[in-house]
Amino acid sequence: MSQDIYPVPAGFAAGARIDASGYEAAYRRSLEDPAGFWAEAGRRLDWITPYSPDAVKDVSFGGPGAASGDVHIRWFHDGTLNVAANCLDRHLGPRGDKVAILWEGDNPADSRAITYRQLHAEVSRFANALLALGVQKGDRVTIYLPMIPEAAVAMLACARIGAIHSIVFGGFSPDSLAGRIVDCGSKIVITADEGLRAGKTVPLKANTDKALDQAPGVETVVVVRRTGGKIGFQEGRDHWYHDLIAKADPVNEPAPQNAEDPLFILYTSGSTGKPKGVLHTTGGYLVYAAMTHEYVFDVRDDDIYWCTADVGWVTGHSYIVYGPLANGATTLMFEGVPTYPDASRFWQVIDKYGVTIFYTAPTAIRSLMREGEALVKTTSRASLRLLGSVGEPINPEAWAWYHKVVGDERCPIVDTWWQTETGGILITPLPGAIALKPGSATLPFFGIAPQVVDAEGKVLEGATEGNLVIADSWPGQMRSVYGDHERFVQTYFSTYPGKYFTGDGCRRDEDGYYWITGRVDDVINVSGHRMGTAEVESALVAHPKVAEAAVVGYPHDLKGQGIYAYVTLNAGEDPTDALKKDLVAWVRREIGPIASPDLIQFAPGLPKTRSGKIMRRILRKIAENEFGALGDTSTLADPGVVTDLIENRQNR
Ligand code: WTA
Repeated sequence: MSQDIYPVPAGFAAGARIDASGYEAAYRRSLEDPAGFWAEAGRRLDWITPYSPDAVKDVSFGGPGAASGDVHIRWFHDGTLNVAANCLDRHLGPRGDKVAILWEGDNPADSRAITYRQLHAEVSRFANALLALGVQKGDRVTIYLPMIPEAAVAMLACARIGAIHSIVFGGFSPDSLAGRIVDCGSKIVITADEGLRAGKTVPLKANTDKALDQAPGVETVVVVRRTGGKIGFQEGRDHWYHDLIAKADPVNEPAPQNAEDPLFILYTSGSTGKPKGVLHTTGGYLVYAAMTHEYVFDVRDDDIYWCTADVGWVTGHSYIVYGPLANGATTLMFEGVPTYPDASRFWQVIDKYGVTIFYTAPTAIRSLMREGEALVKTTSRASLRLLGSVGEPINPEAWAWYHKVVGDERCPIVDTWWQTETGGILITPLPGAIALKPGSATLPFFGIAPQVVDAEGKVLEGATEGNLVIADSWPGQMRSVYGDHERFVQTYFSTYPGKYFTGDGCRRDEDGYYWITGRVDDVINVSGHRMGTAEVESALVAHPKVAEAAVVGYPHDLKGQGIYAYVTLNAGEDPTDALKKDLVAWVRREIGPIASPDLIQFAPGLPKTRSGKIMRRILRKIAENEFGALGDTSTLADPGVVTDLIENRQNR
């Protein structure tokens, strides 16, 4: 592992928000006096009713001493505020004509610049339109949109009236969309006629129509016209977004929300069962998203900030929309893909708008690195001053290329570790304060108390390796699984009672730096997208020819991890290549293209214990092509199965 150290560039330290000693002092204070620290930090927002000093933090992670099952997390809980007012109204005076959203379409000829004043007007109108459609505080609103400004408008309009948005990534299938609509009981879906990616259309409205066959509770569909493509339109149920906006009153008073009123639900994959509705609330989430955005990205008023995520993922929520807009920043939203019209698109866009801060995922960096340096060097990128990475561990080669070729050795890289559940970045360099080591997310943000524990939960000290837990709460933490608090407690607080279990493994080095080593549960990370192996398995076994399936991750050069599926067919079915293709298409249809298996191995049998439990450890080793180190196989019911699996392994 690389032990190179990149000190804070002198020029950067001089102007940065916080330097090394500032970081140490603030970090210490944040752990010694969390309520005092966050009471102060919370004042970065405009509150309608300010929180009282004794209502800043009210948290129990359960565990020894707590009433059994008592896990509750509340921050600023007697305060009221409005998220949209914090992201829009309060900027109108100082920054009304500043660009809030810079939008770059899939086609380089399409772009828009929307000022804070314009965004405020559009959000106010759409908030009124939602009210007129009968949407009330606490109602769930499903958003299934491409990367267009209307996605941010819809989010903020929900926040303005206290409705809870649930965004479903536009790459998900009708089935996945339906499951998420039904789980949270939303009666309204906001979508577009079609999305546009790399010049191809994505049939969002048609997908929505299909989903609604399985989600009969939906009474209203709002459709943004993006491409003008032909779609079905059901009178009474379906409404054009532009008609609603044209009719709506432009004045809307933001409705006061309690700090603990829900802001959004975002479904994410876990190690078992269906995706969980991760629930985030209003006050703590926004304080944390805004504060991390400001400090981690060292944001100033004249920055042009670009996060390449999709609003369908948490990174898009916290670091395209809520964090940047709460801070009055200019946030760039990109509809397209990094390789269209060609693989210099990212760098072209950086030059076009003078992007100063650029935040992307290792999988994108790896795929562009493969295209060679020349494409990057056709562009200047002189505006860049800071680079960021998120979603999976960044391998040192990709880090070095990003630093040298993209950033011309001038820009620090913030490798930010966090999760849908954490709401914002937890472990990260602060670019003016913390020296970098390629591949390490470095040190905890203010208020974050990481611990490394062994399998029994013993806290390991010093340089060590184990599982990553967080010992105490921070304001941006998820509050519950929507509609299933018990699952929340079980998933995150039962493995190590009294602590939040991240599901990640990590190493801590002699300097106290954290190195995330990846998931230790049955969650895989494919191109930075989280996927539960159980979800892919249940899609596969739903196929009429499949008897049983087991899915594991394996190292993949571009994607980080690939999806490896072991499939046992029903008796009499032929294990043909055509069937493999059919299974891949089947999974794409059931879940979405991001879940497509990369390798399928037909397996007459799976390695099981005598009690019938699939031994995934063995399947993982074979998928990694490391079958020499299978470990203890003595508990296998039928050791012969393993020999067959090794002989027919697909990753060679
Ligand atoms: C992984 C994305 C290493 C990790 C914000 C985590 C990372 C999961 C990093 C969450 C990073 C995210 N280094 N691993 N900088 N960032 N991860 O919920 O395994 O989509 O648990 O949130 O991604 O993925 P999620």
